[in-house]
Amino acid sequence: MICKNIGINEAGHITFAGQDVCELAKKYGTPLYLMDEQRIRENCRIYKKAMENYFDNALPAYASKAASFKRMYEIIGEEGLGVDVVSVGEIYTAMKAGYSLENAYFHSNNKTDFDVEFAIENGVGYFVVDNAEELFAIERINGGNEKKQKVLLRLTPGIDTHTYEAVNTGKVDSKFGSAIETGQAEEITKLALHMEHIELMGFHCHIGSQVFDSDTFLRSSDIMLGFAADMKKKYGYELKELSLGGGYGVRYVESDPVIDIDANIKQVSECIKATCAKYDLQVPKMIMEPGRSIVADAGMTLYSVGTIKQIPGYKNYISIDGGMTDNPRYALYGSEYTLFVANKANDTANFTADVVGRCCESDDIIQPAVNLPKPVRGDIIAVCTTGAYNYSMASNYNRVGRPAIVMLNDGKSYQAVKRESLDDLVANDL
Ligand code: LLP
Repeated sequence: MICKNIGINEAGHITFAGQDVCELAKKYGTPLYLMDEQRIRENCRIYKKAMENYFDNALPAYASKAASFKRMYEIIGEEGLGVDVVSVGEIYTAMKAGYSLENAYFHSNNKTDFDVEFAIENGVGYFVVDNAEELFAIERINGGNEKKQKVLLRLTPGIDTHTYEAVNTGKVDSKFGSAIETGQAEEITKLALHMEHIELMGFHCHIGSQVFDSDTFLRSSDIMLGFAADMKKKYGYELKELSLGGGYGVRYVESDPVIDIDANIKQVSECIKATCAKYDLQVPKMIMEPGRSIVADAGMTLYSVGTIKQIPGYKNYISIDGGMTDNPRYALYGSEYTLFVANKANDTANFTADVVGRCCESDDIIQPAVNLPKPVRGDIIAVCTTGAYNYSMASNYNRVGRPAIVMLNDGKSYQAVKRESLDDLVANDL
């Protein structure tokens, strides 16, 4: 199976976190997001344990853009992780969940004055500052406060990953951060060091998402620490924290590699320690911001099959009761997924079809050319590894309501987010 938490029971039904998903579809309706609570916690612990083992001072901060709703921040808080937040919406959701914001890292390449005020007022621990303008805004808005605002500076080390363009962010011409190569990184470092209401804690970079080995982390840490050494020489600044951005990739399909996160973090730690020694730097507190690898394999989406269309000589379509509104990732990135007909898990796959949604849009495809047992109306389709960037990227296109999120834990299930009703859809219309 693509993930350890997926199985097949005696009825020939797919199970997730030990529970029959056809029963869950019956109980809660479809489309439906399922989340395996224990899997989320285990994923948190893999990062926490490895970072604690291999560094003297380190913290994983969950990148909550991957899945942001109150229950997630509660779990993340209980597991002792920091969070990466990218909007006042995410900050507010974390606050409503009772998550303490001292280990929150506030990202975004364009924070408005309102965003800055809101974050300072509510005690967000760190700003990850993207550019000089933002630095001036924080200095001005924090002017009345005694406490300095801690910041990391987001720098672009000029590295290209092998991942697809949309999640490739470490290049010099990226919209994110200030580039080392152009001198802008040094400029904002100088600025930050001279500001009265700002405490420069360190540097941040993020190279890309869905990364399967440590090569990019090793290359970026060398550039970042080299830059820190330069800043030490020129301005006497000693780096306290270094964030290397997002976490490792996940397996969507069998051909994706299996990754040993613990071993990779060990390798990164050895490299960081050696590089710090090379540049005569103290080893800083290390931050990583995993999002996808915390929640992706903890998620599964269930749909009911509707129309099955066979176009002789051309192709077949299986239409489901969700689509790009709850999972836009194939439409956006051509992302691959593993699918099952959940109530026919042991049947022979004898039917090739595009699994498509019900939006008025030809690109509303969950996955093209999937080989499955031929379904009939009412069968349940399970799409695996949907815990990251599905609910958080869902929309109401075509006035389709977002599905509920049901958490699975220890043989029980409970709703963390309710299904959007028709009244929810018109709630803001005046
Ligand atoms: N830190 C920063 C600054 C980031 O920009 C991101 C992801 C992360 C952490 C988390 O990276 P992860 O551990 O999840 O790889 N919507 C796209 C992914 C966009 C990722 C953006 N940044 C998708 O569905 O694949």
